[in-house]
Amino acid sequence: MSRVKVLKLDTGGRRRGGNYDRGRALVAGGAGFLGSHLCERLLSDGHEVIALDNFHTGKGYNLAGIARDGSFTCIRHDIIDALPTDLAVDEIYNLACPASPPHYQADPIHTFKTSVLGSINLLELARRHNAKIFQASTSEVYGDPLVHPQPEGYFGNVNTHGPRSCYDEGKRSAETLFFDYSRTYGIDVRVARIFNTYGPRMQPDDGRVVSNFIVQALRGDDITVYGSGSQTRSFCFVDDLIEGFVRLMNAAVPPQHPVNLGNPVEFTIMELAESVIDYTNSRSRIVHRPLPVDDPRQRKPDISFARQHLGWEPKVALSEGLAHPTSYFDALLGGRRFVAPRAVQASSAREATA
Ligand SMILES: NC(=O)c1ccc[n+]([C@@H]2O[C@H](COP(=O)([O-])OP(=O)(O)OC[C@H]3O[C@@H](n4cnc5c(N)ncnc54)[C@H](O)[C@@H]3O)[C@@H](O)[C@H]2O)c1
Repeated sequence: MSRVKVLKLDTGGRRRGGNYDRGRALVAGGAGFLGSHLCERLLSDGHEVIALDNFHTGKGYNLAGIARDGSFTCIRHDIIDALPTDLAVDEIYNLACPASPPHYQADPIHTFKTSVLGSINLLELARRHNAKIFQASTSEVYGDPLVHPQPEGYFGNVNTHGPRSCYDEGKRSAETLFFDYSRTYGIDVRVARIFNTYGPRMQPDDGRVVSNFIVQALRGDDITVYGSGSQTRSFCFVDDLIEGFVRLMNAAVPPQHPVNLGNPVEFTIMELAESVIDYTNSRSRIVHRPLPVDDPRQRKPDISFARQHLGWEPKVALSEGLAHPTSYFDALLGGRRFVAPRAVQASSAREATA
């Protein structure tokens, strides 16, 4: 029996004359950080959008800006449970999965089921309705990589039984399922391997490095760097990533393998901490804590495929992009700690109070 509960089917909002020339898109994980930005983008592109979320890490306020749009519906549902068969859609984006270590490690078996059972349920829905389906995979499939930068052809170096494995191996299994459904049933699948992405609507306490550092800097707390801080990451601004999602979904020929999406400019974690302190003009000090188990030492996407076949590459530099989550978190924390450039202030304050 379906446990779907419709949270909102708005009647008072603006409806685009019922003419959804871009079709109906389902966004699983639509109330999350990336999912809410994707829902907005799809609505503005002319889609009817259904967000599906169990609200584990997603928030209703992430959807406040589109809640009254007549082309938008939000359904509370856990994707590990069977989906209603009559949910007819043209495109499915599967973003449903907690993405930060404290959240995905809190219930590792549920995380693994989300990637495996959830993917099967959504793939079956795609099969039933002949819909295109997109999977939000991750750079974590490369584990602690021995090849640098990471091209899509690299198979990774992943621990199968550590505390991060529920996420890393779950996402690897999901990739397997997507391409097996494609080969077996001819389903049109698109798989993106996402590298660290940041922007407004990250949660202030979810343990991701960019949000951690900004919130600590704004509060004047110590900035906690795990290990020496010489490990590297690359950081993509959310708008760039969402553009990559849409280009991958709309590519005329579906790539027969996962596609890296991320910013190839590499920073050490110490460089990020120092940039955030400088940017926020914070009095925070940097303190070091032990490195978590299986923390990758380096991360940098090889995006040659996306550049060549999707015409995609990130446009927003970290120095520019940091303004948006900083203003967002500043407003969330009550404001007045940080003075952002005027244009950024206006848009980010709207986000945080929405
Ligand atoms: N943000 C990043 O840097 C990044 C990097 C790599 C991969 N990803 C992937 O992108 C996707 C979105 O990440 P995010 O950063 O927006 O994280 P997020 O935690 O903000 O969003 C995940 C959303 O999925 C929902 N969800 C979780 N389990 C669910 C379930 N079983 N059924 C229904 N909904 C469920 C959550 O409530 C939340 O709204 C995830 O799949 C994540 O693995 C994100």
